[in-house]
This record gives sequence, C-alpha cells and structure tokens, in this order.
Amino acid sequence: MKNHSHEPVTIAVVGSGYVGLVASACFAEIGHRVICVDNDEAKVRTLQAGGIPIHEDYLPELLNQHRGGRLEFTTDLRNAAQTAQAIFIAVGTPQSRTGSADLSFVDAVASEIARSIDSYKVIVEKSTVPVYTNEWIRRVIERNGVPKDLFDVASNPEFLREGTAVVDFLHPDRIVVGAATDRASALLKQIYEPLTSGEYYRGDNRIPGPRTESELPPLLLTSTKAAEIIKHASNAFLATKISFINVVANICEAAGADVEEVAKGIGLDSRIGNKFLRAGVGYGGSCFPKDVAAFRNVAELVGVDFGLLHEVEKINEDQIHRFFQKVRSALWTFRGKKIGVLGLAFKGGTDDIRESPAIEIVKKLLSEGCIVSAYDPAAEARTKELIPAGAQMRYVDSPYAAAQDADALLILNDWSEFAELDLAKLHYTLRYPIIIDGRNLYDPTTMTEHGFTYLSVGRPGLSQPVDPISVFHEPRKRDKA
Ligand code: UGA
Repeated sequence: MKNHSHEPVTIAVVGSGYVGLVASACFAEIGHRVICVDNDEAKVRTLQAGGIPIHEDYLPELLNQHRGGRLEFTTDLRNAAQTAQAIFIAVGTPQSRTGSADLSFVDAVASEIARSIDSYKVIVEKSTVPVYTNEWIRRVIERNGVPKDLFDVASNPEFLREGTAVVDFLHPDRIVVGAATDRASALLKQIYEPLTSGEYYRGDNRIPGPRTESELPPLLLTSTKAAEIIKHASNAFLATKISFINVVANICEAAGADVEEVAKGIGLDSRIGNKFLRAGVGYGGSCFPKDVAAFRNVAELVGVDFGLLHEVEKINEDQIHRFFQKVRSALWTFRGKKIGVLGLAFKGGTDDIRESPAIEIVKKLLSEGCIVSAYDPAAEARTKELIPAGAQMRYVDSPYAAAQDADALLILNDWSEFAELDLAKLHYTLRYPIIIDGRNLYDPTTMTEHGFTYLSVGRPGLSQPVDPISVFHEPRKRDKA
C-alpha cells in the first residue's frame, strides 16, 4: 500500500513466532509503523538480515517490501513499548502439564511493559489465552505501579491458519476486538480501518484474497472476556467438527458408504457448512490440540463439565491408531518393510511438525522396524531435528523417490502436489502398488482402475483387510518384462 488516508499507528508486536511475525508484516502492509520485538537475539539478527524463519505464503514478499521501512526488528522491548501507541503481545502460550495454557511468557512481557511505559498505551493480547487473562495482565501492570489511566488492556484474537496466515490476516472472516473502554476500542478500530473501510482492497499492490470493496470484513466489538472465549471456542468447535466427521467416517467404513458423499450431503446444509469436514488421520498442529485442552481446562476451572471436549481429543488420538491398523492390515508384518511416506508437517502448506499425526505415524513405523523414505516439500529440516536421517529413516526429494521400491506408500498430509501424482509412474515405481491415503486425496475407483490397492479413510470396502496373498504374490509389470 502506497497511499493511505487513514492515520497510521505506531505498533509494537512482542514475539516473532507465526502470529507475531505475520501480524507485524501485515500491520506494516496496511500502512502502520511496526516494531517487532523478540528476546531471541539470533532470531532478530536473522530477521534484520532478511532471513525468513517460517514457511508462509506471501510472507517473504511482505518482509522484503517493508523491512527497513515501516517494519523494524529489535530486542529492545523497553524502547519499543515507549515508542508505540499499541503493544500487541504475541508470545507463546504452550500447554502445561495439566493441559492449561502456560502464561509465563505473557506474564514476563506484561511486567516488562509495565516497567517501561510512561504514556498511555493500549496493550493488546493476541496470543491465545484463557478467559480472565486480560484482567490478570491488567493486575500485573497495576502491581508494577502503572496508574490505571495510563493503559488499557484489550483482546484481539487471531484466526490465522498456518500456510495461509497472510491472506487470512488481510482478508479475514471477521476481526474481533474485545475492549473495555472507548479509548482502547477507538485505537484498535483505527488500526484495522484500512481493512474495514476497504481502502486496502482498492490498492494496486494488495495481496489477493476473498475480500473486496463490496465484501468488507466485519469488526465485532465485544467485552474482553467474550473475545478470549471466542478464540478458544472457535478452535474447539473446529476440532469438534473434525472429530465428528472422523467418527462418521468410521461408521461409513463399517457400513460401506463413502464419507466424502456424506460430508457433502451434510455440508450443503448452510447451518452446518462444508468446511472442516474432511476425514483423515486427525487434527494436529500447534493450535487445536493445545487449545482444546486449554478450553477444557478453563471449563473445569469455572466448574462446567465439558466432557464433549474429552471425547473430541480421544477420537483424535484413536484416529491415528485406526490408520495404523489399516497400514498393518495391508502389510501384514512391518519388520524390514520399506514404506514411502508423503507428508511430515501437520498439514500441507506449512513446515510445522508440532503435534503432527504424520510424525506420530512415522515414529510408530520406525519402532516396528520399517525402513521409511519420507518426502515433504517444506518440513524435512524440522523433522530431521527430531528424527535424524539414518539407516532406517531416509529423507528424499520427491514423491517418486519416496515410492521407489516401497512396499507401500502412505499419504499423511495434504500438500496439493500429493493430489496430482502421475499414477502410472507411481505404479511403476512402487515395489507393490499399495497406497494408504490418510487424507482422501484420490478417488478410490480411479486408483483401482490404475491397479492400486488403495485404502483411505471412511470409504467403501475399506473394512475388509487387504488380501496379502493376492497383493504380494501378484508379479509386478516390471518383473514380468
Ligand atoms: C487453526 C485454525 O484454523 C485457525 O483459525 C487458528 O487461528 C489457528 O488454528 C490458531 O489458533 O492459531 P492451523 O492450526 O494453522 O489453524 O490449521 P488448520 O488449517 O485449522 O488445520 C488444523 C488441523 O486440522 C490440521 O492437522 C488439518 O490437517 C486438520 N484438518 C483440518 C482436518 O483433519 N480436516 C479438516 O477438514 C480440516
């Protein structure tokens, strides 16, 4: 954005993880001055030097465009807090042993902000935090001697998906602002005005996405507590949708129906909607598992029985075991079998392997004595830190290299390139034409026509175990030649 009629705001964003870095780049993109703070000196040096620590569409473009201009990186929280009008806290809220969110990073940042500020600031929680955190931050700041009229604490949760975070930020379904005073809500409205007024969507160099001048994102003004609950409830609801369809998939599998047809039939009801009804190996990532546990914990703390979320978690765990059983039924025995694996990240489009069902499955395969050849377009480096390459674990650079002479190929996440494989080439490359698809990327009939034994999730005939005799004893085309 070159010309902007709105009044730019000076913003400090504390934390340069997924949320902090994307928010920083996008606030700069819509015309604000942004100081992104992190206490990790090496990371800040990398960011200052043009490095991009995460795989995220459009992020390199935005960082390159705004770095050194409207966007700067620093370790100096004190100076950033003093300079900024709004201070966004976007530090990690990892899961503690009890499942609750560990707020020690938020606590440390709030205390340091309190020690730094000498004029009015709006302190905004962007990290996913349990209800009451807002009040708790307010108390921390007051306890550090800051007068009540020198600050407000607001809540502005993010709903970004990894991989599409930049587009989600700039073209949001909604912007939620939880604020207790007009002063705080006015500043947050000013920050988002380039989006809510449509100014950004009129610009020539905007990042493309679903929002246009005639389809503006709504800004929902709520209490701070409601904003906090909206974030947890949204993620918990989406996770529930996934676990729900996964159980329906298991019913389909047993009954001989196709879950894809069922999901379509359910999703056409506008009250339900067709999104997040893809059956598979279950949800993972840094958000859903953590937030479902944290929301369950919040419910417990306030004395509400949210047993539903226990079930959601249990179904999600079971889904990996069910998938693994499917692999076992196809392979008969594991020791010494060569397995090709497509996908290591918790979903396609990201390099994030946190709570990835794919990693869970790979670890199980290795512990059973399989030899794994894995390919993921972005997550190899991160996975290597966890599972180093070795005789049993190989990292390869294409889907066909993963399939080379494998006894079976597993599809474990949904990178778009995994859905566009050359099936004839794949058939030729595999030692045995067995594909076990944990993301339902292919049509079973097409796969059968191509000569594959194809197992997926919640589709007809899958309850029948593969007949290992016929699969393993049928000579392959190549052998025949
Ligand atoms: C999720 C939410 O979608 C965001 O709105 C939220 O801001 C974010 O968490 C967060 O709290 O920070 P993300 O974790 O990036 O975003 O990933 P999703 O695209 O939501 O997928 C989560 C998991 O569910 C993945 O493992 C994905 O493969 C799985 N999934 C998703 C399914 O199994 N089926 C579906 O139909 C959809």
